[in-house]
Amino acid sequence: MKKPAASAAFKIRHLKPTDQKNLAAFFLTLSPETLNRWNRFGTHFTPKHAQAVAAAQIAKPLREEQGFVAYQGDRLAGYAYLRFFPEKPQKSGTASLGIIISDEFQSRGLGRRMMEVMEQYCRERKFKKIWLSTYSDNERTLPFYKGLGYIAEGIFMFDEFFGPKPRHVISMAKFLSPQMQKTARQLKQRFLPD
Ligand SMILES: CC(C)(COP(=O)(O)OP(=O)(O)OC[C@H]1O[C@@H](n2cnc3c(N)ncnc32)[C@H](O)[C@@H]1OP(=O)(O)O)[C@@H](O)C(=O)NCCC(=O)NCCS
Repeated sequence: MKKPAASAAFKIRHLKPTDQKNLAAFFLTLSPETLNRWNRFGTHFTPKHAQAVAAAQIAKPLREEQGFVAYQGDRLAGYAYLRFFPEKPQKSGTASLGIIISDEFQSRGLGRRMMEVMEQYCRERKFKKIWLSTYSDNERTLPFYKGLGYIAEGIFMFDEFFGPKPRHVISMAKFLSPQMQKTARQLKQRFLPD
């Protein structure tokens, strides 16, 4: 059930070196359910692993990745990032996106706000496409991303195995020009008919 909106109380900004300790603490608050849905750095954090990941994320050069954080007061409530493809000029118009809101702050409108901030960042820098992937069993994220204008562009079937359990990965994208959106619809009709 949706909780009362409290998004106005959140401050969203770029990740900076002074966030390192808070980011490590944030990773340690994530529940197994949340880490089952987002596991870029694994499905379990120890304090040592959380510190190492936070340090590595903060050290990333901007040509590779831009991090974003959301705070409520001095508590880090959300973390997100855009990853770029500096080694491949042909993909310079694409940014790959990831987002995690801590369990306590989910369903309060913060995820939507962080997505809007990242989209604005991409538009200002003339990116053409924002790309992300999500699991087909993550029933919450599909309406979340669709509501923000993302479309499913492909399915990587049986792409990951958690023990014996296979999981399918849905590739989703938002195209930042009306012309590309139109072409994307045509491509879907041709190659991925319902
Ligand atoms: C997915 C996630 C980023 C969404 O952020 P959030 O702050 O919880 O979502 P918001 O409150 O901004 O909700 C935005 C939309 O998401 C959907 N949504 C949010 N909470 C929901 C819930 N409990 N059940 C169903 N849909 C929900 C709704 O479509 C909502 O639309 P609305 O604003 O028009 O009502 C966040 O819940 C999260 O980090 N989850 C765990 C990790 C994860 O799944 N990350 C993404 C991996 S691909």
